[in-house]
Amino acid sequence: MTTSAPLLPPGLDQVANRIARMFKHRRKWARRSGVTCFRVYDRDIPDQPLVAEWYDGDAVVWAYDRARNETPEQETAWLAGVVAAAASGFGIPTDRVVLKGRRRQRDRHLAAEEREGEGQYQPLATDPAAGPAAGRKVVKTVLEHGLSFEVNLSDYLDTGLFLDHRELRARVRAEVAGKRLLNLFAYTGAFTVHARAGGAAATTTVDLSNTYLDWAGRNLALNGFQPGPFHTCIRADCLAWLAQAPPAGWDVIVCDPPTFSNSTAIRQSFSVERDHPGLVAQCCRCLAPGGTLWFSTNGRGFRLDAGAIPNDFTASDCTAATTSEDFRDRVPRRVWRFARA
Ligand SMILES: C[S@@+](CC[C@H](N)C(=O)[O-])C[C@H]1O[C@@H](n2cnc3c(N)ncnc32)[C@H](O)[C@@H]1O
Repeated sequence: MTTSAPLLPPGLDQVANRIARMFKHRRKWARRSGVTCFRVYDRDIPDQPLVAEWYDGDAVVWAYDRARNETPEQETAWLAGVVAAAASGFGIPTDRVVLKGRRRQRDRHLAAEEREGEGQYQPLATDPAAGPAAGRKVVKTVLEHGLSFEVNLSDYLDTGLFLDHRELRARVRAEVAGKRLLNLFAYTGAFTVHARAGGAAATTTVDLSNTYLDWAGRNLALNGFQPGPFHTCIRADCLAWLAQAPPAGWDVIVCDPPTFSNSTAIRQSFSVERDHPGLVAQCCRCLAPGGTLWFSTNGRGFRLDAGAIPNDFTASDCTAATTSEDFRDRVPRRVWRFARA
């Protein structure tokens, strides 16, 4: 077992202290909420651009580029210090800290908030800069409001559960009883799991990736939910699929597209800024009377085009209402609720 370093360079000692303080505070809230994974540090100290999340005994730390001209040796030393600081803050050995991100591979610097489609979901386990946890496969089950989810901390840039969606998932779960849910860009199906726990009459889960759909199937099974005629997972390009989907077929739609995607599996590239009006229009067409569309994006500087709101719909900004305790300091995404006026 590797132990955490007691001596930390200036700046990283503050990171360790901040993590320790927030971890203690949020752990109590998480325990009360049936949650075992949560964010603890989010670029709180400007010179230490890190994001740290807790996954029930393991920590994941994303390291961003620092605006400095560091030598590779200085950078390596900083990353080693980051691991030590996180281990010290969380009170765990350094080999339980999974480090992601490296200056010389800029694509890996994109944090969860900036992911842009499947192209960025690259394996990281063999990255030698990943610290003492490098090479250790970390796949485990965590809890969110009492439901179980498989997370993979070692092999992808993201873990399989976007924690910033926790409150929106709870909201969907609370409003979906007896209704039909359409989960677009579903990733590992977390919205679908919550919808089934909330008593959804039918669920349709659509994603381009078989890897993520298989993962969604495992998440559903973990919670005792089986596929069936009313509960289907579909591998498709959401845009092409929506265009031929029946009108008024769903009561609740969750649409959380990537900021940008140019996967070879889709006909043309997707940009949320450019393409959201058409996407929202298609979603609204598929909503039954009285239905709700939850549209979410983490696109930086995204502006909802006024023309994207169909004439007979209203769109309310529900970002604050769907932001969880551990994301209040830095809201990574915007959320709108579309409903017929
Ligand atoms: C932003 S994540 C979605 C996160 C998910 N809504 C959640 O909260 O867990 C992006 C997902 O969109 C999928 N994706 C990207 N482009 C797609 C497309 N054109 N059609 C369907 N799925 C797509 C990716 O495979 C990935 O699973």
